[in-house]
Amino acid sequence: MSEDVLSDINLDYLRKRFIKYTRKAFQMLPKLEKPRILDIGCGSGLPTIELAKLSDGEIIGIDIDQFKLDKLNRRIEEEGFSSRIKTFNCSIFEADFPEESFDIIWAEGAIRIMGFEKSLKEWHRLLKPHGFLVVHEEINMVSNKLEKIPGWDYKLRDHFSLPEDEWWTDFYKPLEIQIKELFLKYKNNSEALKILKKYQNEIDMVKRNPKEYTSAFYIMQKS
Ligand SMILES: C[S@@+](CC[C@H](N)C(=O)[O-])C[C@H]1O[C@@H](n2cnc3c(N)ncnc32)[C@H](O)[C@@H]1O
Repeated sequence: MSEDVLSDINLDYLRKRFIKYTRKAFQMLPKLEKPRILDIGCGSGLPTIELAKLSDGEIIGIDIDQFKLDKLNRRIEEEGFSSRIKTFNCSIFEADFPEESFDIIWAEGAIRIMGFEKSLKEWHRLLKPHGFLVVHEEINMVSNKLEKIPGWDYKLRDHFSLPEDEWWTDFYKPLEIQIKELFLKYKNNSEALKILKKYQNEIDMVKRNPKEYTSAFYIMQKS
């Protein structure tokens, strides 16, 4: 039942508008031959698919949300990437990959799960020497921690912010219109209403300060 409302909330349609920034961040990396990429918190995988298009590498996506992984798995089939993208329902707290397995760790909206410093520390061992860590996160979550990056044995190679209030105009504002209609559609479904309220709270938070809610990409390299 909750899957009905989740299917109705068309987040991917809005999320797609930000894929140009995934592309921009990837293009800031040097050319890598068949990189092994770990996409942490891959979700329904718009960035994951884009990474497969941008590289000739192998990509592993991990997430704990099976609904989103199912969506990504369908997309992998449709786009013909079954031989290069594998997904696992696995928490980052339990991920048990061998040391130095990846050329790139990609984390869009996922570094907050474990926290910035702990993630840098834990993910360091998974990266090959001079491997890259690319993080896309709310600026507030990261900007005051940048000076700590060398302490965790990374160099900040590059970073860029998304235009001010783009998340509001291109994502949360149109999402609010969708959510309003869904409140009417699911007015007698308490489970669905609970989900919709969660989204509305997030929208309200951004709406209060649209210019302050912005995100940035950070491209780090293991020293
Ligand atoms: C903000 S979404 C980002 C999804 C995707 N990277 C994107 O940019 O579209 C964060 C993702 O992290 C996942 N997540 C939350 N806790 C996790 C955990 N402990 N381990 C792995 N993934 C987790 C969520 O299910 C969600 O799909």
